[in-house]
Amino acid sequence: MTRPLELQGLRALVTGGTKGVGRAVVASLLEAGADVMTTARSKRVGTASERFIAADVATPGGCQAVVDAVRRHWGRLDILVHVVGGSTAPAGGFRVLDDSEWQKALDLNLLAAVRLDRALLPTMLEQRSGVIVHVTSIQGRLPLPEATTAYAAAKAALSTYSKALSKEASPQGVRVVRVAPGWVETDAAVGLVAEIARQGNIGMEAARQAIMDSLGGIPLGRPNKPEEVADLIAFLVSPRAAAITGAEFVIDGGTVPIA
Ligand SMILES: NC(=O)c1ccc[n+]([C@@H]2O[C@H](COP(=O)([O-])OP(=O)(O)OC[C@H]3O[C@@H](n4cnc5c(N)ncnc54)[C@H](OP(=O)(O)O)[C@@H]3O)[C@@H](O)[C@H]2O)c1
Repeated sequence: MTRPLELQGLRALVTGGTKGVGRAVVASLLEAGADVMTTARSKRVGTASERFIAADVATPGGCQAVVDAVRRHWGRLDILVHVVGGSTAPAGGFRVLDDSEWQKALDLNLLAAVRLDRALLPTMLEQRSGVIVHVTSIQGRLPLPEATTAYAAAKAALSTYSKALSKEASPQGVRVVRVAPGWVETDAAVGLVAEIARQGNIGMEAARQAIMDSLGGIPLGRPNKPEEVADLIAFLVSPRAAAITGAEFVIDGGTVPIA
């Protein structure tokens, strides 16, 4: 018999929940019985079961709008999953990363979490219960230089910030954990594979392999599925993970080559 994750009645905010990993996290938490609120800049057509707040969390005002919505609709929060993140920086290495590109990387990948935590964690501390998950990346320790130097550095900063926050919050009953995915085959990733195949005049499988090769290979032979990352997060936010805090969980099919 499988044991349920016991999320019934818990209130969960998931940032970046309309695509990729975030969409899978929303589905997993809803399936486990949580009430879910999610945010993105634009609503996914067909989103039904969760509350949705349109906001750009890369800005202080967008974060405040999300905080206001949580307070207005729920008052309290039990689970906060920071999925939002990514990079739109151009290729070209460190020379093309001007201050504005660095600021964009930090706003989306670090400061969105910092701002939301700063506003929402105090209520969790008063409740003496809650869980925060920061979605980092294996790039925090395995950075790729061509276009994602600033992204990788921001994710490393997010990881260090998360560890510090766990030391402050855990003694007061709030767990703070990190999940570091390797390559995840989201819709956007499938689009990238198709683009590489088109540009290189090669098949989809060869293009997929080229991405895996650029990461130094994936021993498992394939990328993560968004649902696999979501399952790990759903476990970590559940009472079954009550002893886990201050740790980072890598899910990458073995990509990171060190123990
Ligand atoms: N995919 C991978 O291979 C991979 C690997 C390692 C780590 N990760 C990490 O995993 C997380 C999810 O990645 P993903 O690939 O699943 O993402 P994704 O498919 O690109 O989806 C990103 C989500 O965030 C929202 N979003 C983006 N910018 C936003 C903003 N400024 N304000 C509010 N919402 C915003 C998007 O909706 P809108 O566009 O409508 O705003 C969407 O819901 C990220 O933190 C990423 O760094 C991903």
